[in-house]
Amino acid sequence: MKDFRGKIAVITGGGTGMGRELAKQLAAEGGHVAICDVSAEHMAETKALCEKGAPKGTRVTAHLCDVSDEKQVLAFRDAVKREHATDHVHLVFNNAGIAGGGSLFSDSREEWERTFGVCWYGVYYGTRAFLPLLVAAPEGHLVNTSSVNGFWASLGPGIPHTAYSAAKFAVKGFTEALINDLRVNAPHVAVSLVMPGHVGTSIVLNTPAVLGRPSPKEMTAEELRPVRERLAQRGLPVGALSDDQLRAGMQQMAEDFRDKAPLSAAAAATLILDGVRKGTWRILVGEDAKELDRMVRYAPERAYEPGFMEELRAKGHLDLPLTPGDE
Ligand SMILES: NC(=O)c1ccc[n+]([C@@H]2O[C@H](COP(=O)([O-])OP(=O)(O)OC[C@H]3O[C@@H](n4cnc5c(N)ncnc54)[C@H](O)[C@@H]3O)[C@@H](O)[C@H]2O)c1
Repeated sequence: MKDFRGKIAVITGGGTGMGRELAKQLAAEGGHVAICDVSAEHMAETKALCEKGAPKGTRVTAHLCDVSDEKQVLAFRDAVKREHATDHVHLVFNNAGIAGGGSLFSDSREEWERTFGVCWYGVYYGTRAFLPLLVAAPEGHLVNTSSVNGFWASLGPGIPHTAYSAAKFAVKGFTEALINDLRVNAPHVAVSLVMPGHVGTSIVLNTPAVLGRPSPKEMTAEELRPVRERLAQRGLPVGALSDDQLRAGMQQMAEDFRDKAPLSAAAAATLILDGVRKGTWRILVGEDAKELDRMVRYAPERAYEPGFMEELRAKGHLDLPLTPGDE
């Protein structure tokens, strides 16, 4: 698909981050956009930003939908058909995601399954629901967001990261397998797999609300205790901090994840859309993602050893103390 003008694009998780930037850039080119999210407030901001930058006549619709609930995804699809008066769409970005569910030991099963539900079932239900609409278009493109954690199940030694990694590996396998399924059954529909490294978004700030957890600022002393233990286990110097200092520190780390990243959400969205235009099935987003891909392929046995992370950090990648999956 060489240009997006007049095309209809569906984006899950359009409230903030890469989903918002994809929506803005598509709308700026005159693409019609339907976003969904669990945050009405964030979607209203995205919609206003899209409309501000879009040519006249561009439609932008926003839909409340939890992508881990198939009924809600089907209702979202029906609303898109109705509000865009269409029986087809040209682009589907299964982008919504959250962190969390790191450990089978210290996190609840409920949280684990919530993270897996959003990151895997969200992509699966989104694909199932919208595939017939992509097939009904003269040309279509499905874009599923995985992560570097779709080929490297780690944030570094000492940080359990199981639910997110399991979901992102599933997204990668599913999306790669769809290449042949689509070539056989719907050759006018292309598919891409997006694997970002560290991108500056609100994912760490947004995750607690989606998991039904308090934000760092709202945590009680009791809720802070296990967090403090885990951070200490990871070698972070939290022992001498008061509860308020710990709350402020956690908030700061979540903001730093957004504000001190090597790549902005807008730059990431541009790379993703360039990949779609070129028909690339494998879109690695960021120099850290490319380096990790090289390193894991070159020496997979080393991928979970401390030396691997040291080498990655020595090259200037993934050097923030907290990344998604953390508190
Ligand atoms: N930021 C990174 O460094 C990074 C790295 C690799 C992969 N990713 C992936 O990129 C995608 C986009 O994330 P982002 O970094 O832009 O984060 P983000 O939090 O800024 O955006 C994700 C959006 O999805 C929404 N969302 C969460 N749960 C939802 C649900 N159940 N239903 C509908 N919407 C929901 C959030 O409200 C948010 O608006 C995610 O799949 C994420 O896992 C991000």
